Amino acid sequence: MTDALTQPPRVGAGAGATTGGSVASVREPDAVSGAVSSVPVPTDVVFELRDLAVYYGDVAAVEGVDLDVPARRITALIGPSGCGKSTLLRCLNRMNDLVDGARVTGRLAYYGLDLYDPRVDPVEVRRRIGMVFQKPNPFPKSIYDNIAFGPRVNGVRRNLDDIVEKALTDAALWDEVKDKLRSSAFALSGGQQQRLCIARCLAVEPDVILMDEPCSALDPIATSRIEDLMVELRERYTIVIVTHNMQQAARVSDYTAFITTDVRDGGSRVGHLVEFDATEKLFTNPSDPRTEGYITGRFG
Ligand SMILES: Nc1ncnc2c1ncn2[C@@H]1O[C@H](COP(=O)(O)OP(=O)(O)OP(=O)(O)O)[C@@H](O)[C@H]1O
Ligand SMILES: [Mg+2]
Repeated sequence: MTDALTQPPRVGAGAGATTGGSVASVREPDAVSGAVSSVPVPTDVVFELRDLAVYYGDVAAVEGVDLDVPARRITALIGPSGCGKSTLLRCLNRMNDLVDGARVTGRLAYYGLDLYDPRVDPVEVRRRIGMVFQKPNPFPKSIYDNIAFGPRVNGVRRNLDDIVEKALTDAALWDEVKDKLRSSAFALSGGQQQRLCIARCLAVEPDVILMDEPCSALDPIATSRIEDLMVELRERYTIVIVTHNMQQAARVSDYTAFITTDVRDGGSRVGHLVEFDATEKLFTNPSDPRTEGYITGRFG
């Protein structure tokens, strides 16, 4: 694997930077698709969603989503069950490609690059944009082999011990497992398994971490450890988290998107984005009465 494939696309202070240094041009051959682009993109936006819709067969699950996901911040997706949070999250690393009948329309750019361009390699996308699921899903392997799995698939043969130690340290699990790296991952507690899954995700050096209700199967202590971890990781990664826990969204996220379901004529239900704002603002002074209804528990 080349450096170009292991680094985030180079977007930055090069030629093409404009006012305030917040906009720059991508001059390098793009790392994901190999395409060359000179389209100006904001450096502080990782994902740009425009009129995004996802269909399962002919039925729309979410429609009309316009959203800019900021870099090196935690963005929470909240909303009632079935509004399309997981669907939207799965779009961000093309996981919906793996769901039968799922179809995405509109634009979803990753550092200005169309993520759904046919030249983009979805496997590389999922390496850069990792995912942690609701239920911890360690492989039936040792703790060590769980973490080494991704790097090995990517052809890494050297320094695996260092990579494993670093990923486990970054996921705040090293001290608890350093003496039993060859034990089965299934011997860990639920909270430890979830941190193991986060470490497995970190071991391939992603740029973004997507988390779908990562604490819903955990007790309050394990939840608090994962939340602390997210806040630490925010320094280096962009995190998008789906959560049903309002306090969690308020505690850890910098930005929050509230999604809800519309009931259309004929009874079909379609999710859409109601409001996106800084978390503090959305939770204390939401612009839309539907957001207020949801966060105060009057609806959803
Ligand atoms: N694989 C699928 N095939 C068909 N429809 C699906 C599929 N996955 C989700 N849906 C539908 O898409 C809509 C959004 O589902 P999604 O799982 O994204 O909601 P959610 O907001 O994550 O809900 P929850 O909070 O319960 O996890 C729902 O109406 C759901 O029934
Ligand atoms: Mg969901």
